[in-house]
Amino acid sequence: MMEYADLARNRFPWLAETLWLDRPGAEAAWRLLADAVNEFEDDTDLGRGASYRRAQRNAMVRARGIRSLFTLAAGVATPARIPRDWRLLDVLGGDGLLARVLRTVAPQVVSPAVTSDMAGHMVLEALRGGLPAIRQLAQFLFVRDETMDAVIIAYGTHHIGPEERAAACREAARVLRPGGRLVLHDFEEGAPVARWFTEVVHRHSRSGHPYKHFSAAEMERLIAAADLRPVGVRPVYDPLVVEGDDPREVRAALADYLLDMYGLVGLNGRARAETRDAVWALARRYFTYPDGAGPDRPVVYRRRSTWLAEVPRVALVAVGEK
Ligand SMILES: C[S@@+](CC[C@H](N)C(=O)[O-])C[C@H]1O[C@@H](n2cnc3c(N)ncnc32)[C@H](O)[C@@H]1O
Repeated sequence: MMEYADLARNRFPWLAETLWLDRPGAEAAWRLLADAVNEFEDDTDLGRGASYRRAQRNAMVRARGIRSLFTLAAGVATPARIPRDWRLLDVLGGDGLLARVLRTVAPQVVSPAVTSDMAGHMVLEALRGGLPAIRQLAQFLFVRDETMDAVIIAYGTHHIGPEERAAACREAARVLRPGGRLVLHDFEEGAPVARWFTEVVHRHSRSGHPYKHFSAAEMERLIAAADLRPVGVRPVYDPLVVEGDDPREVRAALADYLLDMYGLVGLNGRARAETRDAVWALARRYFTYPDGAGPDRPVVYRRRSTWLAEVPRVALVAVGEK
């Protein structure tokens, strides 16, 4: 803890000022962190951490949905309108994907988003990438009251157990400044992405995927229980998109992304081309949206001189304001 406090003071002085490492209950939280088993730690018997991070090397694959989360979190129409001095905490931050996308889509924002995660490997990778990062549980933040303009809990919220979700939202509300916003993002129970997780990822990954997703009613209850003013719960188009010069290449790259991000090791074992065909066929079966904002199922298409492979996904997103 002391080493981390020194590192934060030296590399991210403004972050060091917001840290509250000795808050009451901190020791129990450290113990929980040390004992926690997490599939994102690394590619061990249970893990998919390294393959997950490999997928995130192309930071722009999920950029469309992430941009929407930023604008909802800042209460603005486009990322260009996010204030320069905006402070964002990304609670399930992994190795800092959202911070990297923020830098690209809102370069005027001076402080990088703070990446927070319970997995030590994820936090180390974010720090290695020069990003401010904290190892902490969503349900116990080592962050002082009213220090953040926005908090995003996204891309993995279903990993927080149903009994811990209210605590995670209360913690987010605690660290928000008055007027600040919490954005809670996940996928609706029973909808295509949740079915992909329970039927495909659960079957073909090392760790399985036995997690409960969300309903709009649960999100509304969580926002209310955190004493935030409800701004609304809405569907957000959140596709996976790869761009390139060649239709076969973009399809192969998106198939590899799906295999790595979801850790679908059970589909391996054949020639790479066959494995890619298998995951693409599954994606076309599951990610179907007849009335969505994008294509009705995964497609490869041309826009002017660029080829795109796109897997449509629709997320469920709640916003609450302090
Ligand atoms: C699917 S990854 C998303 C990472 C990153 N936001 C992205 O989109 O690439 C979910 C992350 O949440 C972290 N996580 C899961 N439950 C958590 C909890 N209760 N507290 C903090 N982090 C948690 C995992 O370690 C993992 O890195």
